[in-house]
Amino acid sequence: MLDVKNIYSGYGNVPVLRDVSLSVKAGEILLIVGENGAGKSTLLRTIGGFIKPERGSINYAGSEIGGMAAEDISVLGLRLVLDGHRVFPELTVWDNLRLGGAVQKDKAAFDKAAEEVFTVFPILRERLKQPARDLSGGQQQMLALGQAFVAQPKVLLCDEPSLGLAQALLPPILNFLRGWAERGTAVVIVEQHIDIALPVADRAMVMERGHVKLTCAAKDLKDELRKASAVHA
Ligand SMILES: Nc1ncnc2c1ncn2[C@@H]1O[C@H](COP(=O)(O)OP(=O)(O)OP(=O)(O)O)[C@@H](O)[C@H]1O
Ligand SMILES: [Mg+2]
Repeated sequence: MLDVKNIYSGYGNVPVLRDVSLSVKAGEILLIVGENGAGKSTLLRTIGGFIKPERGSINYAGSEIGGMAAEDISVLGLRLVLDGHRVFPELTVWDNLRLGGAVQKDKAAFDKAAEEVFTVFPILRERLKQPARDLSGGQQQMLALGQAFVAQPKVLLCDEPSLGLAQALLPPILNFLRGWAERGTAVVIVEQHIDIALPVADRAMVMERGHVKLTCAAKDLKDELRKASAVHA
């Protein structure tokens, strides 16, 4: 579904990503981990079209999207949920969801998706008519996820869903993403809480200083990390 090959990308003349490749199939969750500054967010922003890659290819559902604008990519069904829960603060919770679902022309499908969001995050239903700025940080993160969900993307990139959230909120969010994957979405999650995120992931990738240190089955990550540190010791 998503196939990234040998991309190089950065900010102006500051290079960050070097020769990064990854692939995610429909129905699969890829967990990306790595130290602060490793380039995880830069990678997601590059795939999502917010940064133009200097080299390499980004293939989504059989088409090259490298260099396309973020809006065009999201219309095709690839969505990025940024860290720091970006929602529209002046709009109500409901209007935020409707905006997220703007690409979804089928009203019944939108209503059904919104209903699912409320089942997982009931607080959003209670706050439906309030402006998003009145939500707590964690509630805004739920709304940001809900906004992406109602668009029913085929690929979802999610940057640190737990940022600023109580740890207790992470498992329901991850389960929500798991259910999403099971219906055929390809999901990429960047997450620091490895112990909580690893069990829901299928594969894992470790980034280090702008490149991919290793990629493996999620269940093997701990062993692989142990081996890698033994080599360097
Ligand atoms: N807007 C920017 N302009 C210039 N350099 C940036 C910008 N954003 C990030 N960088 C640099 O790019 C590198 C990778 O940053 P990035 O945010 O991708 O890391 P990360 O792995 O997401 O880190 P974290 O775990 O802290 O979120 C860092 O050296 C950072 O300083
Ligand atoms: Mg980051």
